[in-house]
Amino acid sequence: MTGKIRLAVIFGGRSGEHEVSLMSARSLLAVLDADRYAITQIGVTPAGKWLHGDDVIGRFEKHDYTTLSPVALLPEPLNGALFAVKNGQMERLPDIDVVFPLIHGTFGEDGTLQGLLELADLAYVGGGVLASAVGMDKSLCKDVLRAHQIPVVDSLLLNRSSIRTDINASIEQIEADFAYPVFVKPVNLGSSVGITRCSNRSDLMKGLLEAARFDRRILVERAINARELEVSVLGNENPIASVPGEIQPQEDFYTYSAKYLTNQSRLIIPADLDEDTSRLVSDTAVSAFRAIDGAGLARVDFLLDRQTGEVFVSEINTIPGFTAISMYPKLWQASGISYTELINRLVELALERKHDRDITVRTYGRDG
Ligand SMILES: Nc1ncnc2c1ncn2[C@@H]1O[C@H](COP(=O)(O)OP(=O)(O)O)[C@@H](O)[C@H]1O
Ligand SMILES: [Mg+2]
Repeated sequence: MTGKIRLAVIFGGRSGEHEVSLMSARSLLAVLDADRYAITQIGVTPAGKWLHGDDVIGRFEKHDYTTLSPVALLPEPLNGALFAVKNGQMERLPDIDVVFPLIHGTFGEDGTLQGLLELADLAYVGGGVLASAVGMDKSLCKDVLRAHQIPVVDSLLLNRSSIRTDINASIEQIEADFAYPVFVKPVNLGSSVGITRCSNRSDLMKGLLEAARFDRRILVERAINARELEVSVLGNENPIASVPGEIQPQEDFYTYSAKYLTNQSRLIIPADLDEDTSRLVSDTAVSAFRAIDGAGLARVDFLLDRQTGEVFVSEINTIPGFTAISMYPKLWQASGISYTELINRLVELALERKHDRDITVRTYGRDG
């Protein structure tokens, strides 16, 4: 590629993590090298509108979209064409080479946005449709990891309809399999939204109803008295792992408020672990990334049982928090890769993956 890489950063989005996405995007945009990249900012409003214009991130932070205008990406291979939409007319904007989707959670990290980018035949940073969807689904992700002999915490999957029809039967089913405490969580959410730690039957009843507000499928897990470890993974075919870090939430568990509001959780980098455990955790992170066919980046989170020393993968985040002080970049920094270098590598990995798609034959047995 000659000249600048034309990079579109997409942020915001319809998920509960809209504001987190803005923080990630603000950090990324602040360091992008203007000699290397021609940058287009695309903001997605909480209502799902795609907008572009001047200082999109600044406008989004103020929740003021009045100066911005609609932008569209069509689900066809058009060499990176974006379109401004004015009075119902489409006007072609400068093409883009790579998209950096920085939308966390629903409609950003779950494969839906990735599906659109695939249809548009664009290079994009991070996991594909499958890895994104599996990473987002706490239940299927665990099934895939189990199939790869990667340890995960025992769990039970319930449907909202069965909970709402006969919650006592659901509780009986849970109590037959687990002793308290248990964790109850919506399968497809992040940021600890809808998650409850339940110490008794009355907690469990509330926890099930709460989780059922947020998803059709509810996961119940044995609660572990655990240290929480996280590892950053980077790469496509030959992914590498960072040193592990540890989160010490200063609350009951790593809740939404501990994550974003009170700002009191401690990040310890690298985590204080013996060499064998540290290697095991990093190696397991790479295995988990491969198991879901990860690409580009992911942060793999672990629970380390304080009693038994066992290590479980708890979840895989395919678009982890990406501010300069988020765990994902900080773990790389501690492993010798700066924030800027990390971004450059992610863009290269996106282009490499696009090339892999381009050399894949799809027209076997068909003319032209
Ligand atoms: N089985 C479990 N045992 C102990 N703590 C748990 C368990 N599951 C979740 N937690 C706690 O809840 C937090 C959020 O759960 P997690 O599955 O990571 O969901 P999210 O995608 O919302 O981050 C974890 O960081 C941890 O503090
Ligand atoms: Mg988590």
